[in-house]
Amino acid sequence: MTFWTRRKALDALAHVDQSRQLRKTLSWPHLVALGIGGIIGTGIYTLTGSGAERAGPAVVLAFAACGILCAFAALTYAEMATMLPVAGSAYTYTYSVLGEGLAWIVGWSLVLEYAVTCGVVAVGWSGYMVGLLESMGIHLPHSLVAGPIDGGLINLPAVAITLVVTALLAKGAKESATVNIALVAIKIIALAVFVGLTVFTLVPENFTPFMPYGFVTHMEGDQPRGVMAAATIVFFAFFGFDAVSTSAEEVKDPKRDLTIGILGSMIISTLIYMGVAACAVGALPFAEFAGSKEPLALILRSLNHPGAAWAIGAAAIIALPSVILVMMFGQTRVFFVMSRDGLLPGWLSDLGPDRRAPIKVTLLVGLFVAFVGGFFSLNQIAEMSNAGTLAAFISVSLCVMVLRVTRPDFPRVFRCPAVWLVAPVAVIGCLYFMYSLPPVTKRYFVIWHVVGLVIYLAYSRRASLLNKSA
Ligand code: ALA
Repeated sequence: MTFWTRRKALDALAHVDQSRQLRKTLSWPHLVALGIGGIIGTGIYTLTGSGAERAGPAVVLAFAACGILCAFAALTYAEMATMLPVAGSAYTYTYSVLGEGLAWIVGWSLVLEYAVTCGVVAVGWSGYMVGLLESMGIHLPHSLVAGPIDGGLINLPAVAITLVVTALLAKGAKESATVNIALVAIKIIALAVFVGLTVFTLVPENFTPFMPYGFVTHMEGDQPRGVMAAATIVFFAFFGFDAVSTSAEEVKDPKRDLTIGILGSMIISTLIYMGVAACAVGALPFAEFAGSKEPLALILRSLNHPGAAWAIGAAAIIALPSVILVMMFGQTRVFFVMSRDGLLPGWLSDLGPDRRAPIKVTLLVGLFVAFVGGFFSLNQIAEMSNAGTLAAFISVSLCVMVLRVTRPDFPRVFRCPAVWLVAPVAVIGCLYFMYSLPPVTKRYFVIWHVVGLVIYLAYSRRASLLNKSA
């Protein structure tokens, strides 16, 4: 077996040195909230406007396409996560099923999904916060609320919120998950209020013409258009449920809790999103909120609900950090396992004395995200997160199919229904979404992985534990 194809033994995955094993403190309500905490965030609060700009009223179709794709992916994640309830999610599954080389690529893609997403959300949060402060007459200098690319020095609010979340994560998974439950409740109430205030004002004419820019992604000037162009950006709103699977090692009853956590959070969020998208499009002609950075608040203001519009903004400020929390949690657990496997330096998997949190990797990820949020302009990078997530989804669906053939005997608690339909459709759907990404995103995605492969070939393949034990 070459270094590229060597695999971790499936049956030995659960056997980890006790001093490097995380404590089991979470149960299913934590996991459902972790999933919703990761899913509902910047996407639904801000990208409905960008989606409408690209697809018109058919942004509703873009939401449906993302919902179906993510539901299929969630089914495959549920089978893998309950079969192999170990930390590391898509990276670990790929390592055991498809080999070290592809596992590295998936781990490197997960940095885009988790760490880069945290940066995107921190910058989005900073925008909301600065807006709120200005509405209260407090003006911060531009140099301190924008990175160099946007004509400032540093985005201090983005750095500050990242450091606060890092400190919480360093306390432990249970503490973080408990705070997250409260934040999730606020997010859901805010979206329920939006639906409640708009659903009785829907105007059928707002849905026509339904698909003014067609289905397939194409460029009109420098603007991507079409339902699929909208779907590739709205997809950002849907992922996050998979972060639940990174917590597997810390779950008390992984087989039951992971199934409920992954599928429950996905179903609840998709239902909420479909309601919000349909109400947004039906309440106001799409051209009036297309491209808006705060479409939900804008719609409520147009319907003469200024108080509710303000409350939606306030809820976003209070609750968006839960996405940073969940995604940063996911990133620390992926790096933690990559370090335990030898692919990253060993000190990254050191635990505090009570094994509640991997402190060093948490601080490192926190500083990295603070740096990204503080100094970069992240508009286009949101689509990089999508590309990384799609790569991870593809790998998990492939793993499910390969294992159904190679290890039909391995006990499965949750079996993905109609697997030979669901998994191939998930793979093909993700590939089509990737193909529909703007060209610039595809270019950066390739560059990101070339950098990753250089690191792998120069360092990780030799440092790998499997190399040492060969
Ligand atoms: N789904 C998450 C969000 O929309 C990443 O913020």
